Amino acid sequence: MDYAFFEGRIVPVEEAKISIMTNSFHYGTAVFEGIRAYWNEEERQLYLLFAREHYERLLRNAKALFMNLPYSADELVEVTKELLRRSGIQEDVYVRPIAYFKDLKLTPKLIDYTPELAIYLYRFGRYLNTSDGIRAKVSSWRRNDDNAIPSHWKVAGAYVNSALAKTEALLSGYQEAILLNAHGFVAEGSGENIFLIKDGVAVTPSPDQHILEGITRKAVIELLEKELGVKVVQRPVARSELYRADEVFLTGTAAEITPVVEIDDRKVGDGKAGPVTRKLQELYFNAVRGKLERYRRWLTPVYG
Ligand SMILES: Cc1ncc(COP(=O)(O)O)c(C=O)c1O
Repeated sequence: MDYAFFEGRIVPVEEAKISIMTNSFHYGTAVFEGIRAYWNEEERQLYLLFAREHYERLLRNAKALFMNLPYSADELVEVTKELLRRSGIQEDVYVRPIAYFKDLKLTPKLIDYTPELAIYLYRFGRYLNTSDGIRAKVSSWRRNDDNAIPSHWKVAGAYVNSALAKTEALLSGYQEAILLNAHGFVAEGSGENIFLIKDGVAVTPSPDQHILEGITRKAVIELLEKELGVKVVQRPVARSELYRADEVFLTGTAAEITPVVEIDDRKVGDGKAGPVTRKLQELYFNAVRGKLERYRRWLTPVYG
């Protein structure tokens, strides 16, 4: 049976229920995270990936929404380990922490309310096709501007923007959307950061491009530079660069490293995942399962 962390206690997930009157349900004033845990069969060990970094981001985002949660990142990592152990998880799983205002009151504001934190487990499997890659469409929806609903925070309400773009892409026969920012430069996918490879150099939109600065993005920059000797440039990226790139891939906790093999009906490179993307995937998938000693620092073992 799966357990959840709810109102300060670990309870069976069916008991973790909120009222329809919950303030944050109405106004999207919740902040959340997505954390993956990877099962290593040989070691019979479950590894949480970047658990501390995700909880630090959650607490920073919560603080920005005037939610003072009575937990440290380390305490939340411990709670998550306990949740996974109690639920007896021996497979890959996704952990969803969400902080919200529990008050049964209607006014869209951030003060004089009571913040609450819930954490539950979700069986995601692969979010996108990491093997064959995906076809993507540049969305007609623009990424929400950081001065409207900050793209840098994982705020629930901002995901209306993601849902609109993703739905448009799916209904048009693509698997993912690439959003431009309000200034017409490439921002990111509906739930992923984006990288392109051109003439051996990696390019990714800089933090000022109205993106979420992904934790996977940071890890991938490290792998590109340190393991593959690929220079990474962070700068504004024009839409037309997508059509001229040798390789394009998306990064995210859910999406991991997903090759983009076609954009707006144009093949990326030769229409297959490129060599840099493949090498990165191999490194990443080994690192997240604890198979690369030097990246064990990314991981928190759950058992033992
Ligand atoms: C809009 C958006 N961009 C990027 C990412 C990737 O972030 P991370 O690598 O921290 O999961 C996510 C997912 O969390 C996202 O929702």
